[in-house]
Amino acid sequence: MSERLGCITCDATYDIGKVRYTCDCGGLIEVQRGGPILHRDTFEARRMSRHPNDQSGVWRFREAVLGVAPNTIVTHPEGGTRLYLRNGIYFKHEGENPTGSFKDRGMTVAVTQAVALRVRAIACASTGNTSASLAAYAAQAGLKAIVFVPSGKISAGKLAQTLAYGATCLQVRGDFDDAMRLVREACDRLDIYLVNSINPFRIEGQKTIIWELLQDLGWNAPDWIVFPAGNLGNTSAFGKALREAHAYGWIDRIPRLAAIQAHGANPFFRSFSDGFASRHRVEAETIASAIRIGDPVSFDKAVSAIRFTNGVVAEVSDEELMAAKRDIDRMGIGCEPASATTLAGVRKLGLTGRIVCILTGHVLKDTDAIMKNTTADQIIEIDPTIEAVIAATGAAQSTPAPR
Ligand code: F0G
Repeated sequence: MSERLGCITCDATYDIGKVRYTCDCGGLIEVQRGGPILHRDTFEARRMSRHPNDQSGVWRFREAVLGVAPNTIVTHPEGGTRLYLRNGIYFKHEGENPTGSFKDRGMTVAVTQAVALRVRAIACASTGNTSASLAAYAAQAGLKAIVFVPSGKISAGKLAQTLAYGATCLQVRGDFDDAMRLVREACDRLDIYLVNSINPFRIEGQKTIIWELLQDLGWNAPDWIVFPAGNLGNTSAFGKALREAHAYGWIDRIPRLAAIQAHGANPFFRSFSDGFASRHRVEAETIASAIRIGDPVSFDKAVSAIRFTNGVVAEVSDEELMAAKRDIDRMGIGCEPASATTLAGVRKLGLTGRIVCILTGHVLKDTDAIMKNTTADQIIEIDPTIEAVIAATGAAQSTPAPR
């Protein structure tokens, strides 16, 4: 399988072993490959195998992800997440990945490439999930991990998780977009490998969210795939995944993408609303801290994904996304606030047909958001007496059973 790096804006190509995130022309870089087309039956067979590379919902598709020697792959394994059907809507729960978010799918590929490139250290800017994932995979691969997070603006759980896996955490006085600019400069100047989703290998891994869900559905494509949009890595990956699945003959119909943003962090929605005539940047603010991003780096790839799939971009308010989160939580599934933009978006857009919502992060990723939205009648402090239990729960006292 021949692979190279190619610019999405001009025709320039670079060797796959070069460290490149953008082209000399400024365009974004993607992985391009030729070679034999795989039949989807291969993936069914691998699902039955016990080998970690086959068990991984990423490396199961390895010929279309990254051509490396199988024994060099850094896998937990990841993927293999559940697809729930609730109230007529499918929920693919990417929060069931090893570190609790979809980021592991891209990170296994970026870190495998980092090892192949023999880099010393890897870094990212993050709202908390990428940093946790980076830290876990760096620990597994024995690489130094440096993460740049907006100080005081990521959830306590994500910060703790990142520290637990052993990363060095630089808390940047600024927002995510400041941290992103700084990490790009730091990686350019200090010989550190950048594994944000501007890294094309991250995108190759995240494509498998779509491929795995298509496999889950027996390759019968849904009408809509709905997901949160922040830095636009997933939007880009999903467009590439669908383009390739169609080209490889795995599906005969292209689902439409619906990328959902929070109202306070909606630069992509603003651009969509003006027909992508201009690129917008905003000062981002939303309760969904994972997607508190005002200047998404993968903008151009994401525009082409929306266009290719005849997709849409919508925005939802914090109230709408938290109401949807409550409903997803009360289905017994649960997710973090950013992920709930999906169900809120389905409602806002009035979508019908076969719909798959991508839940990007685990319910425990942001416990502050849960506690802030819990009412006083649900959490009650009591004395350790049966009378207190009866008073608090309204339970009736039964007659003790005869001994
Ligand atoms: N959902 C969750 C839970 C996320 O953590 C992110 C991004 C997104 C959605 C948006 O995905 O950036 O591909 O459009 N989190 C990044 C991070 C920015 O640092 O963890 P995107």
